[in-house]
Amino acid sequence: MAEVTWSPEGEKLFGKLLAAVPEAMRETIKPKLIQMLAQRAGSVAIDEAIIKTMVQEDLPEPQKSALMQAIGMQAPSQPAQEGPSLEWTGKSEIMFELMLGEVPEGMRAIFRGKLSAVIAQKTQSGAVTEDHVNAVVNEIVPEPFKSSILKKFKTLGDFDPAIIGEIVKRFGTSRDKLMFIMHAAQDEIGYLPREAMLAISDKTGIPVSAIYSVASFYKAFRLERTGAHHVKLCCGTACHIHDTAGVGREIETKIAASPGVSIEKTLCLGCCDCAPVVEIDGKVYKGAEAQAKIESITLA
Ligand code: FES
Repeated sequence: MAEVTWSPEGEKLFGKLLAAVPEAMRETIKPKLIQMLAQRAGSVAIDEAIIKTMVQEDLPEPQKSALMQAIGMQAPSQPAQEGPSLEWTGKSEIMFELMLGEVPEGMRAIFRGKLSAVIAQKTQSGAVTEDHVNAVVNEIVPEPFKSSILKKFKTLGDFDPAIIGEIVKRFGTSRDKLMFIMHAAQDEIGYLPREAMLAISDKTGIPVSAIYSVASFYKAFRLERTGAHHVKLCCGTACHIHDTAGVGREIETKIAASPGVSIEKTLCLGCCDCAPVVEIDGKVYKGAEAQAKIESITLA
């Protein structure tokens, strides 16, 4: 690292500047910033003026505007908070939100505007595709954020995000319709992936934290994709008492060896007089019937 001397104010301002750099990048960026400052300072101590000039003249956008704002400077032009209006297709909007999710919250509004403008340039007034968002990430997002974002893109829920828009249109955006929207989304997709919750939040204005707490509170919501066949094993009192033949344990053993079958333990399925019961792909089976059905799906 370059040998430098600091004025007390300069050192303080540099600390503020570094604090605005996302934590994961701070150690990587620090020597580069000091090197740029050393070149500007020559043999004098680095003071506030040198730091401000370096930020203004040596850093690229959108980092420049964000860091200028972080250290109390007037950004070169007012950042477009909303950015240009874009027409999203496929998963492009969700990918864009995932990309923004890597930016520290305080800097997100600036990045939203700047990145939207970059995407608008790429689309040349056309609709935004997943390729456009991928290109922006590959071309201008620095490591380690780039790898992290691209990894998230690969594991994006395999559903058409337009589904969420249609569901919200059907139920409206009021908070008391949230459960209906979430159930409908789960029925369509098969589970509630993170991206579906983000899309619901985006379309309704309900904070994603509120949506996630509902999804994780109620057993009715599944946060992971189920197998081609989904088995609900009743663990209610009646089924527990009647499980004399060890139906549940046998089923669990069989299913463990069948990757296409997922299992979920659940409370009373509402047909205790037939206990022990299991629900397979939405249909309830009792005792021996359940065994036979399990045989057929695990051998399939
Ligand atoms: S306890 Fe299993 S159906 Fe009621």
